[in-house]
Amino acid sequence: MPLFKLSDAVFDPILSIKSTAPVAAEQIGRRHVVDALITAPCPRARFLRSLNHFSTTVPQSPLSTIPHRKPQPSHSATLNSLLTTRYCHQVPPFSSLPRTFRRTIMSFGTSAASRLAGKTVLITGASSGIGRATAFEFVNASGGDIKLILTARREAALVSIKEEIEKAYPKSKVFPIAFDVSKLPAIDAFVDNLPAEAKDIDVLVNNAGMVHGVDQVGSIAQSDIDIMFQTNVFGLIALTQKLLPLFKEKGKGDIVNIGSIAGREPYPGGAIYCATKAAVKSFTETLRKELIASRIRVIEVDPGQVETEFSVVRFRGDKGKADAVYKGVEPLIAEDIAEVIVFAVSRRENVVIADTLVFPSHQASALIMHRKL
Ligand SMILES: NC(=O)c1ccc[n+]([C@@H]2O[C@H](COP(=O)([O-])OP(=O)(O)OC[C@H]3O[C@@H](n4cnc5c(N)ncnc54)[C@H](OP(=O)(O)O)[C@@H]3O)[C@@H](O)[C@H]2O)c1
Repeated sequence: MPLFKLSDAVFDPILSIKSTAPVAAEQIGRRHVVDALITAPCPRARFLRSLNHFSTTVPQSPLSTIPHRKPQPSHSATLNSLLTTRYCHQVPPFSSLPRTFRRTIMSFGTSAASRLAGKTVLITGASSGIGRATAFEFVNASGGDIKLILTARREAALVSIKEEIEKAYPKSKVFPIAFDVSKLPAIDAFVDNLPAEAKDIDVLVNNAGMVHGVDQVGSIAQSDIDIMFQTNVFGLIALTQKLLPLFKEKGKGDIVNIGSIAGREPYPGGAIYCATKAAVKSFTETLRKELIASRIRVIEVDPGQVETEFSVVRFRGDKGKADAVYKGVEPLIAEDIAEVIVFAVSRRENVVIADTLVFPSHQASALIMHRKL
């Protein structure tokens, strides 16, 4: 993931702008500033362009409320750290934006936005965690020029994501459609009944997945085996098969499958979940080989430990047990994986980020973690 360190030669002219630049930059967030800085012909123009970009893409921009004042030396450090800080939650909040848009943590540049422009993206498991964050990341990265089909079982959560996104990016279009990916007939009905304007899907993110329990072989409930395979494997395969003819007809498209470290390295107490993710890996690699003559990109992203509702589901709603999983460690956040997914999809058509394993820094394998207790 690129990080941008501005040289003084670039940075000083920005500070010389006799306007609200540093204050505005604090409130805008890193991405919009950097997007503009790296593409326009001179720093001043670049910076002004970023302000313009921000105020046109985010209607409730705070810019109109910023008082004009001369930049102070202290702004240099603030802006520089803002532009080089990896996570914007370390950046002063820009209060007039909706909560989700305050953490604009990526910086892909304007070419990513143009590559994503006008695309239709289908995300499964979009009601929480990685899927939800991916929806916001796509809309942020495209500047709102995108259609999102969001699916999961919890319709209310999908509808509230739609409202939040469309309010911030009126140009975007979000279709929240509830269905259960483990019920295979529901998949046919879901795809066949998509609204006409959402039918031409360009990107499929197969993210819906779950784990139940930590039982060891010999005492695993058949119902847990069934639900994990039906959701993580059969649902993913069925949806992929259903959409593949469309992608083949177009000669292109992106299929992003969310695997796991569990699919690479099985661990005690995870026999079934690990087996499902190993199946996802085999399926994904086969598909990439079968589609070698096409422009259909098959991408796998394998997260390590990410704090989402995943562990709460594993422990069947027992929040205490779920919290214990993250005791003494700093897990990834859903947005970290969302960044990787959107980064992969927004590369040039000839670039396939085929297989990515993403750990937090304390993790080195499924079970090797450094805990500060
Ligand atoms: N969190 C981690 O540490 C981790 C690590 C490696 C891989 N992963 C993988 O990342 C993916 C996303 O998980 P997450 O961490 O974001 O967990 P999460 O917060 O629990 O999200 C799981 C999503 O899947 C949806 N889902 C579950 N069963 C479904 C079904 N039968 N039909 C439709 N949607 C269903 C859920 O929505 P509804 O409940 O509304 O249906 C939810 O939106 C999963 O494939 C998981 O295996 C997670």
